[in-house]
Amino acid sequence: MPQWRQGLTKSLHQTRSVPESRYFQLASVDSNGVPYCRTVVFRGVTDDNQLVVISDTRSEKFEQLSQTPEAHVCWYFSKTREQYRFSCKASLVTLEQDDELVTSQWNKLSDAGKKQFLWGEPGTPRNDGSALQIEGSFDKVPNHFCTILLAINSVDYLNLRGNPQHREWHHKDENGNWVSQSLIP
Ligand SMILES: Cc1cc2nc3c(=O)[nH]c(=O)nc-3n(C[C@H](O)[C@H](O)[C@H](O)COP(=O)(O)O)c2cc1C
Repeated sequence: MPQWRQGLTKSLHQTRSVPESRYFQLASVDSNGVPYCRTVVFRGVTDDNQLVVISDTRSEKFEQLSQTPEAHVCWYFSKTREQYRFSCKASLVTLEQDDELVTSQWNKLSDAGKKQFLWGEPGTPRNDGSALQIEGSFDKVPNHFCTILLAINSVDYLNLRGNPQHREWHHKDENGNWVSQSLIP
């Protein structure tokens, strides 16, 4: 297991009582190179060290990442005062591509979580003030529900505790092995 992943596992454990520790910021760029950033929920790490996120194929991020898979994650754990910045490559996984993965993520959602995917197309105008209607059923995974896997290329870790602070750079060497380098913060 790479050193950064051991550290992340520890950070998640130490902050397990803080729900916000499961949110991180995911940045992508559009076809003009304009950056966009949004908060997403961390849904786990795969055996091959990819961060798991769930999303909607009709969203801007899906369009952006399908054109430019390079993404950046910024994740701050306020309790432990640690920041992880991940340079990533995104894989977009639809129901058609991996039924098992996408269905398992859908089945883990609460009804309230599922509902958010059944309100209609995200980002389109909501013209009247009436309650949003649910289109579809909780039992059937909607075709637009998807999983984003973020493969980590490198990690810039900063721990604000201590004087001086502690910063580490994790990347892969030419043989694909993870190496770590301590940096001036
Ligand atoms: C705390 C929090 C958690 C969120 N989690 C997710 C998530 O896991 N997946 C997601 O697609 N959007 C999530 N969102 C909504 C996104 O931040 C964003 O508003 C939405 O996905 C549309 O983004 P886009 O137009 O850039 O695709 C979350 C928002 C907040 C505030």
